Amino acid sequence: MKIAIMGAMPEEVAPILEKVGSYKTVEYAGNRYYEATYRGVELVIAYSKIGKVFSTLTATTMIEHFGATKLLFSGVAGAISPSLKVGDLIVATKLSQHDLDITAFGHPFGYVPEGSVFVETDKEMIEMSKEVAASMGKSVQEGIIATGDQFVANEERKNWIGSTFGADALEMEGGSVAVVCSALNVPFFILRAISDAADMDASFSFDEFLETSAKESAEFVMNMVDKI
Ligand code: ADE
Repeated sequence: MKIAIMGAMPEEVAPILEKVGSYKTVEYAGNRYYEATYRGVELVIAYSKIGKVFSTLTATTMIEHFGATKLLFSGVAGAISPSLKVGDLIVATKLSQHDLDITAFGHPFGYVPEGSVFVETDKEMIEMSKEVAASMGKSVQEGIIATGDQFVANEERKNWIGSTFGADALEMEGGSVAVVCSALNVPFFILRAISDAADMDASFSFDEFLETSAKESAEFVMNMVDKI
């Protein structure tokens, strides 16, 4: 078993590398990958850079080149559900691409032929996350995450994503990582800590809370690794 732990930004992966302590750095396909053994478990760690294309490349590389057999994503998200506040954790049950649009041909948003609007995450790891949350004395919300190549800082767009996909949070990588893992039969887990409310204050809130929220998410994911 080899576990991939990925984020999109350096801030999302730094607390993971800190926890792991020592690692080997490998340059591959225009990115840096960190190989480590943590409590007897082989890990490959990387941040992809922001967005669906870079996250697709990194997830694919972690699986096909580095041989990862499970993938855990750790990072931050914008809240759609009013019950999610800055610092809260959300575990994705399924993910969609909110900016995928061939509705001109009569298809629903987020759908292309031979694809699906939603991709479901691994149920076993969701169950495990409940035990991890209990052991940490934390509450973690399960919900739908919508992904797109947009930083959403607009109430109208956020509400549209919420009503169209039933989404509770939004970000820029989970939906593409989900497509990769599902196609390659690799169980995956997507965790996000809220950094902002995807509204007109989102960029300020993101800058202020990126680091602390990323740390919350990373700590949780490392406790997941302990259990796997
Ligand atoms: N990740 C964190 N906050 C976000 C937002 N408002 N839009 C897109 N991705 C995000």
